[in-house]
Amino acid sequence: MPHSMRAIEITEPGGPEVLRMVERPTPQVQENEILLAIEASGVNRPDVLQRMGMYPPPPGATDIPGLEAAGFVAAVGKEVSNIKVGDKICALLPGGGYAEYATVDAGSCLPVPSGFTFEQAAGLPETIFTVWANVFDDGDLKSGETLLVHGGTSGIGVTAIAMAKAFGAKVIATAGSDEKCEACRTIGANAAYNYRDCDWDKDIAEKGGVDVVLDMTGGDFVARNLNCLNPGGRHVSIAFLRGVEASVNIFTIMQKRLRLSGSTMKSRALSEKARLARDIEKKVWPHLESGKMPITTDEVFPLDQVAEAHKRMESGAHIGKIILKTR
Ligand SMILES: NC(=O)c1ccc[n+]([C@@H]2O[C@H](COP(=O)([O-])OP(=O)(O)OC[C@H]3O[C@@H](n4cnc5c(N)ncnc54)[C@H](OP(=O)(O)O)[C@@H]3O)[C@@H](O)[C@H]2O)c1
Repeated sequence: MPHSMRAIEITEPGGPEVLRMVERPTPQVQENEILLAIEASGVNRPDVLQRMGMYPPPPGATDIPGLEAAGFVAAVGKEVSNIKVGDKICALLPGGGYAEYATVDAGSCLPVPSGFTFEQAAGLPETIFTVWANVFDDGDLKSGETLLVHGGTSGIGVTAIAMAKAFGAKVIATAGSDEKCEACRTIGANAAYNYRDCDWDKDIAEKGGVDVVLDMTGGDFVARNLNCLNPGGRHVSIAFLRGVEASVNIFTIMQKRLRLSGSTMKSRALSEKARLARDIEKKVWPHLESGKMPITTDEVFPLDQVAEAHKRMESGAHIGKIILKTR
């Protein structure tokens, strides 16, 4: 094992130019961890927030950004029995994906689905764990129900559309342009609204409403989401791109018996991530491997062009996942 590795450091809070390639010591595995020799990693919006100094890594985690990666297992800790050196793995990381090696709890690892390249597999964990935990676990979306997802062409959005469709739900998406709405329909959404130029909530409510909302917008959209929800509906918050504060009508919540919840994936306990991983491997992996749940990759950048990858994400022009190729 090399003593040092190439990694991307955030030199100070700021724009994409603060991302710098450096040499760092190769991390050492703890008892329950594996060392992943990373072939590719995913870029996610939380990485951009971390770069800006607005979303610090959880206590004890590396300061190297990167919440997901795929590669070969290079070493295993003493307590790890279900994974061996050489296995092809993709993993949900607490950080450290923008590097040649990362350590990760064995419970947060999944096999690379058969037929998938490392670039494809690297973009799976962060969005699939988030969508599974929020839409299916907390939101309890069932076959035959309808999901509303905003940011339909975001990394989270394309995953939510594909996953909900694979499980037999209907999906309505919103996006910020007609081209993005077309992309949402191509990915599988039953309907898509350009939220900039229509009363999407009125139209959705008139056409039968929705049962679950996966919300990354917050702000003024929350009250409009609640107007779309059917009795017994569930509203799950994962971000607040339109504002952290929302004004809602409590009587609407009472009348329709709505449930509002929210969560962050990064701060969940390792035992919780391990439970999610086992559920995902059993229930979601077969849909990936059969082709029933297609994935959408926007662009692949070499690791040393990480600043370009962040610029692409911040431009908002991407459709699907942005990936870094490590080697
Ligand atoms: N809580 C969690 O555990 C968790 C985990 C992962 C990600 N997240 C959050 O989920 C969000 C999506 O993540 P991602 O990695 O998929 O990011 P992403 O690909 O950059 O997507 C962000 C999306 O938000 C939409 N958007 C931006 N500003 C908006 C606004 N003012 N109103 C409506 N839509 C707006 C954009 O779509 P348009 O161009 O169509 O506006 C874009 O598609 C991020 O906010 C991220 O922090 C949360």
